[in-house]
Amino acid sequence: MKLLITGCCGFIGFHLSKKLLNKNLSVIGIDNINNYYDTRLKKERLLILKKEKKFLFAKVDISNLNLLNKYIVKHKIKYIINLAAQAGVRYSILNPKPYFESNVLGFYNILETSRKNKIKHLIFASTSSVYGDNNKFPIQEDDNTDKPLSFYAATKKSNEVFAYSYSNIYKIPCTGLRFFTVYGPMGRPDMALFKFCKNILMNKRINVFNNGNHTRDFTYINDVVDGIVSIIKKPSKKRTPFQIFNISSNNPIKLKKFINMIEKLLGKKAKINNLKLQKGDVIKTHGSNKKIKNFASFKIKTETFDGINSFIDWYKNFYKR
Ligand SMILES: NC(=O)c1ccc[n+]([C@@H]2O[C@H](COP(=O)([O-])OP(=O)(O)OC[C@H]3O[C@@H](n4cnc5c(N)ncnc54)[C@H](O)[C@@H]3O)[C@@H](O)[C@H]2O)c1
Repeated sequence: MKLLITGCCGFIGFHLSKKLLNKNLSVIGIDNINNYYDTRLKKERLLILKKEKKFLFAKVDISNLNLLNKYIVKHKIKYIINLAAQAGVRYSILNPKPYFESNVLGFYNILETSRKNKIKHLIFASTSSVYGDNNKFPIQEDDNTDKPLSFYAATKKSNEVFAYSYSNIYKIPCTGLRFFTVYGPMGRPDMALFKFCKNILMNKRINVFNNGNHTRDFTYINDVVDGIVSIIKKPSKKRTPFQIFNISSNNPIKLKKFINMIEKLLGKKAKINNLKLQKGDVIKTHGSNKKIKNFASFKIKTETFDGINSFIDWYKNFYKR
């Protein structure tokens, strides 16, 4: 099976590549290694992947259709998992352009190359943010996604509808995965867990929006990766071969409680800067994972406390703190 993972130097792409390589599959990875966050972390992930014999890497930007297509033709790719994107809700408020380039133009290129190369299954990352301020919980895949609160969410919603149209017209099997706040070792420096641990360990204040009253369905990286792996060989068989799944823990936790767990594990109290609700932020996420559980072998195996502990172990070791 020739499998391409875009965004392989990113948090989820790295862990997914590692898992597939451990299963003795060949992984062809691409990434533009942009500097949205510390590239040291991306390069470190790449170094680990490059140790594997069955891993091949090229620096390719998905916004360059020619280069992307050439690479896919050269390696006779038949499966694509698109994780490359400009991530982050808050950054999209000040910097919408990279979201357009990677998430809209880049994703259009992924669809075009899938069409040209008769891709057997295109799996792509969407997000829980597409649900906006929906207040029916747990949120299910057919709940409303018409009111994204940020441009980031809007670009991901556009991916879903673009993919649907390609599935409908060209019969490309497409599966969109709505990830819910993924966390774990080698996680992203722009996300809460990373920032909180860093600042608490450095005796600095942590910024807590909405006075800690946000609720998030934190989902551990290994569970997310298992969810992706479980559907690779399960494209939709419908006339329009398109499907969407939540990848969530179905276990919402208030940010205040999440911070308490971090404090307990670090053995240190956080100094908190309480701030008001940030523009574009969703107050609560809580996703039902019934659909993927019924469809594939998806199972949540990691308790949040244990997941945070694994992150902290990695963080202390990596940054020698
Ligand atoms: N981590 C989460 O909690 C979460 C939640 C919902 C959705 N997602 C989505 O999952 C996917 C992976 O997220 P992540 O947390 O691993 O983010 P990440 O930023 O760590 O990984 C994305 C990778 O894609 C690369 N990239 C960005 N634009 C590119 C382009 N134009 N061409 C080639 N490579 C490019 C980046 O360099 C990065 O290595 C993203 O699509 C993100 O929007 C993540």
